[in-house]
Amino acid sequence: MTTEATGSKSPAQALITKEVARRRTFGIISHPDAGKTTLTEKLLLFSGAIQMAGTVKGRKSGRHATSDWMDIEKQRGISVASSVMQFDYRDHVINLLDTPGHQDFSEDTYRVLTAVDAALMVIDAAKGVEEQTIKLLNVCRMRNTPILTFMNKMDREVRDPLEVLDEVESVLKIQCAPVTWPIGMGKTFRGVYHLLRDEILLFEAGQSEQKQTVEVVKGIDNPRLDELFPLEMEQLRMEVELVNGASHPFDLEAFRAGVQTPVFFGSAVNNFGVREILNALIEWAPAPQPRDATIRDVSPEEPKFSGFVFKIQANMDPAHRDRIAFLRVCSGRFERGMKIRHLRLGRDVKISNVITFMSQQREQVEEAFAGDIIGLHNHGDMQIGDSFSEGEALQFTGIPYFAPEMFRTVRIRNPLKVKQLQKGLQQLGEEGAVQVFKPVHGGELILGAVGVLQFEVVAHRLQGEYGVDAVFEGSSIYTARWVTCEDPKIMADFEKNLYAHVGHDAAGNLAYLATSSVNLNLIQERWPKVVFHATREHA
Ligand code: G4P
Repeated sequence: MTTEATGSKSPAQALITKEVARRRTFGIISHPDAGKTTLTEKLLLFSGAIQMAGTVKGRKSGRHATSDWMDIEKQRGISVASSVMQFDYRDHVINLLDTPGHQDFSEDTYRVLTAVDAALMVIDAAKGVEEQTIKLLNVCRMRNTPILTFMNKMDREVRDPLEVLDEVESVLKIQCAPVTWPIGMGKTFRGVYHLLRDEILLFEAGQSEQKQTVEVVKGIDNPRLDELFPLEMEQLRMEVELVNGASHPFDLEAFRAGVQTPVFFGSAVNNFGVREILNALIEWAPAPQPRDATIRDVSPEEPKFSGFVFKIQANMDPAHRDRIAFLRVCSGRFERGMKIRHLRLGRDVKISNVITFMSQQREQVEEAFAGDIIGLHNHGDMQIGDSFSEGEALQFTGIPYFAPEMFRTVRIRNPLKVKQLQKGLQQLGEEGAVQVFKPVHGGELILGAVGVLQFEVVAHRLQGEYGVDAVFEGSSIYTARWVTCEDPKIMADFEKNLYAHVGHDAAGNLAYLATSSVNLNLIQERWPKVVFHATREHA
């Protein structure tokens, strides 16, 4: 907030206000193969952050292992750059956060979405709404995150666009406001009609290496169009009339409230429609938003620094043991070398070794503002959800842990390594790679995950970082619910009575480990005063 009663701002405050206003922080949500990687690359290409297509593509082959995206990464010897990409476009600073999809899909993806102010949903227009998109959109809905939609692959034989929009509206329960409308598809894809600007952007295939240089024809009734597309214009004019009559007109407020999504048609691989997305992002998507921090809301323009950790990533380079904590700045100005308060531990830490994610500037960036992501070296003292400030006790909320959907018990081949196993799992649990439950009755540790890949990563890391050869086995547990109760006596009774079915997670929270949904329902009925939580927030 501007501080001075006179209304005139100090230079420092004016700088913060200006920097916040020009920031946009977003993530891409899509089902695998819809074109997220291609579009990411094109966004970077259009902004000038990379010079050539194909730079980001390579990272697919490496999957969760190291990627060799850009020198920036080699220079720093770490593989975090692909998780956050910061670039400039039209005097704006855009932070694009990677949301791993596919087998990589895990809690990580959910939590990344808590750090964005908008999301871009990419849909394969031939396939329509797919499973992963539904899940991710539901996560966005938890915070009413504004969603832009890109209907990709119009250069292919796709489904009827009206039908796909209907599907988005009915399955994802979000209003669609088409901003561009396709002319044809597949071999006869001619371009799009921009409904708000009344102009036609002509499509030319195969522009994969250059930026898009589209020809623009003004006005849908322009006779030049009938010359160009004698076969398609009648159909287009009919469709546009229909769309104008039947669909929702674009409404900035409804978009910002997460109720409506503006829809763009295009072809990422052909560079078509990408510029419209970038423009919508800076013109319509919100600048960094205020954040709820338990005791009060924190405005991005406040002079004092604050932020929270939403992701921890292990350094994939075995030569370094470091882990990087990704912190979203929520307010103020971060400066290299400044002292900030680690609120959970209640002590000040000096942050001099910080990673930023500028792709256009190679030199270390010295400052960051709300909406930016900075990487802090974590020597085991930072957890997901940790809040930092210049002293005020602000605990940012809304960074969730989700009830796991898959469980494994874990044991080791070499019993002498039990200490290393416990230490490894404790650390991996704290950084959110997997959830670890310690049964109250003793016995083997139980691992819970949202995505099956998490187990693979944990096995790999236990071996590589802790020298532990662990064996994972199936478990009879079906789901977990964190339990709380206002009455500590009832809580104690619950734990005692059900000691064979409860465990503590890495942060010490008690959870009920159910063997089936019937079992869970039964226990819930028997213990009406106990609250069962499918998500929990940072303690
Ligand atoms: P993802 O990150 O969402 O998983 O998708 P990705 O970008 O890797 O794209 C998946 C496939 O779809 C790729 O083909 C990609 O080239 C293709 N694709 C992306 N955008 C378009 C588009 O606008 N039109 C068409 N026709 N195809 C598109 P692939 O065969 O799996 O890989 P590649 O060999 O082409 O790289």
